[in-house]
Amino acid sequence: MGGLREALDAHVRRLAGTSLSALIAADPERAQAFALRCGPLYVNFARQRYDRAALDALFAIAERADLAGALRRLLEGDIVNPTEARPALHSALRGAVAQSAFALAARAQAVSVQLRMRELVQALAASPVTDIVSIGIGGSDLGPRLVVDALAQPQARFRVHFLSNVDGHAAQRVLAGLDPARTAAVMISKTFTTQETLLNGGIVRDWLGDAERMYAVTAYPQRAEAFGIAPERVLPMWDWVGGRYSLWSAVGFPIALALGMERFEALLEGAAALDAHALQAPLRENLPVWHALTAVWNRNGLQAATQAVLPYDERLRLLPAYLQQLVMESLGKSVRIDGASVAVDTAPVWWGGAGTDTQHSFFQALHQGTQVVPADFIGVRQAAHGFEVNHAALLANLLAQTEALANGQDSEDPHRRYPGNRPSTLLLLDALTPQALGMLIAFYEHSVYLQAVLWQINAFDQFGVELGKQLASRLLPALQGQGQADDPVTQALLEVLRTGE
Ligand code: F6P
Repeated sequence: MGGLREALDAHVRRLAGTSLSALIAADPERAQAFALRCGPLYVNFARQRYDRAALDALFAIAERADLAGALRRLLEGDIVNPTEARPALHSALRGAVAQSAFALAARAQAVSVQLRMRELVQALAASPVTDIVSIGIGGSDLGPRLVVDALAQPQARFRVHFLSNVDGHAAQRVLAGLDPARTAAVMISKTFTTQETLLNGGIVRDWLGDAERMYAVTAYPQRAEAFGIAPERVLPMWDWVGGRYSLWSAVGFPIALALGMERFEALLEGAAALDAHALQAPLRENLPVWHALTAVWNRNGLQAATQAVLPYDERLRLLPAYLQQLVMESLGKSVRIDGASVAVDTAPVWWGGAGTDTQHSFFQALHQGTQVVPADFIGVRQAAHGFEVNHAALLANLLAQTEALANGQDSEDPHRRYPGNRPSTLLLLDALTPQALGMLIAFYEHSVYLQAVLWQINAFDQFGVELGKQLASRLLPALQGQGQADDPVTQALLEVLRTGE
């Protein structure tokens, strides 16, 4: 968007000398006025370093960039991924929020695959299988892994294990302790060409003895069949589902196995409710719009190079890893859709971990380091355990950290001084239900898309990951003693790897 930096600069300069605590003192209504709710998801932006005038400027940017139209185009199935000439219709996997012919046709395909998923879950439940190995990587792993880790219950019908890394130690660890006679495997790969997944699939097929209890999820069923997986155990996906937006599709099969189909559907319902909110809520009441504008303010206004995500809930410990892919594979671009270089910085580095553990590792740098790191703190009001004091302590720590980062504390001793003025957003879920988690993930998906619209980049391609993959497949034979590397440094390093010298 032309003039994004210029539109922010005047406000950044105006507010440069005003601390976050002064902003809050000057506007006592902020705690309520800068907060939004959508069902079980409450988000408070009062501890961001903008005031109402700066927010007006941000919402004017949102109007000029037509974020409302951009959301409509996404949900209706327009080609929002022009470099690959595709829509990105993950919303059609979870509901019928848009009524365009394409979105409705996609919805019908999604529903028919959900019926097949249900049958496969039932058939497996009636079998002696107790353990499932889910084999996939990136978008074919991180979403199911997050949701299963967050929501699976100890009494679940199946234990689901995840195998992603090509490092054979990963396969060794996952398979140790499993019984091949009571294990089934699901290979998840949109392309069914991903090296890691094919190699790990081969290891598991050998370990199982054959592919009789192997399932696949892919947009290329014939490739799964060529691997030996029978067509009745192959679930389709489509090119209008991006890998990192795919947990709502049959990629969520491990979720359905771990949680049961009803709770998988509840996850979809939560995401669909957020889709409806994103489509219908006016810009100023629109959660993903507000979050995306805040991201742009912090990145382009305050020049923050990184962004922390800090779930204060052990069950959400994998959320930072999930969001790293969602944000950085979607927004780590320096070329605009029109082919020109971007004029402003795009995705910051996203990182984080679960509180309170992280308080005892990297929070020192958050409080007193030279870099200001905006943070998303995520809490859950009601715990699903009976350790009440622990839960109160967890929430007390969550609140304490956001307050300490914002307000700081002065001291005569420079070593003991907390500068404060460090922005954060607080996200609260009423309880960690499948609906609430679905809503939270969809909220981030739409925020990421809107940031891409504001930066005029394509959120849905990822050409940056291809070169490394191509080089790795060329170097594999060289490492096995056949051929040489083109690059002299790589060739020298190959020698070291092969001979130790
Ligand atoms: O890492 C790049 C990537 O293409 C991701 O976008 C994708 O989720 C992952 O690889 C796995 O791809 P596939 O599902 O085709 O195996």
